[in-house]
Amino acid sequence: MPALPRLVVLISGNGSNLQAILNACASGELPASVVCVISNKADAYGLVRAKNAGVEAIHFAKLATETRQEYDQRLADYVTNKQPDYIILAGWMRILSSAFLSSFPNKVINLHPALPDTFPGTHAIERAFEAYQRGEIDHTGVMVHIVPDEGVDNGPVLATEVVLIDKEDTLETLEARVHQTEHVLLVNTLRKILEEKVTRSY
Ligand code: GAR
Repeated sequence: MPALPRLVVLISGNGSNLQAILNACASGELPASVVCVISNKADAYGLVRAKNAGVEAIHFAKLATETRQEYDQRLADYVTNKQPDYIILAGWMRILSSAFLSSFPNKVINLHPALPDTFPGTHAIERAFEAYQRGEIDHTGVMVHIVPDEGVDNGPVLATEVVLIDKEDTLETLEARVHQTEHVLLVNTLRKILEEKVTRSY
């Protein structure tokens, strides 16, 4: 049996998308193995999720003495040692510089809770909900994309899914629906990428 593709997942918080990946790997829905979960935040609940799944869970803190580039290079070295096929940013809330990205061309995949070119950065769902309340939009969505450079939540799009906003929605119900959509889209997109990779290698 060939070895499963290796995923390194970077998180900063709750890790519900990490959980979707872990569940899909455990059930065989996603033929891959999460080899390491890295958080820039010590209290990220996703680290607990990783440990519960028997996966290496690391709090990778930026030292006060190091520059952003030095941190990114140290992180790149750590991740390189894990020999990942893909690095998944699942709620990783730090912009990665070329000191990290240049080590992994076309291998870093980001999830964002908005459609391309809308609401980049933090609080995307909240900002979409406010735009809906102002009558500017009637839907938002989620996307999965490659991270080529330091552009925030921007890069070649792998998949998108629209999420309609309803007049009955509160921020909480919209957030819940966006997250459910993310959990499915992220796993499905990763599966497709891994299938294509297998096809391409023949
Ligand atoms: C997700 O909604 C993800 O798309 C978002 O952070 C959340 C993490 O949730 N990422 C960004 O906003 C990136 N700009 P989770 O920790 O429960 O997976």
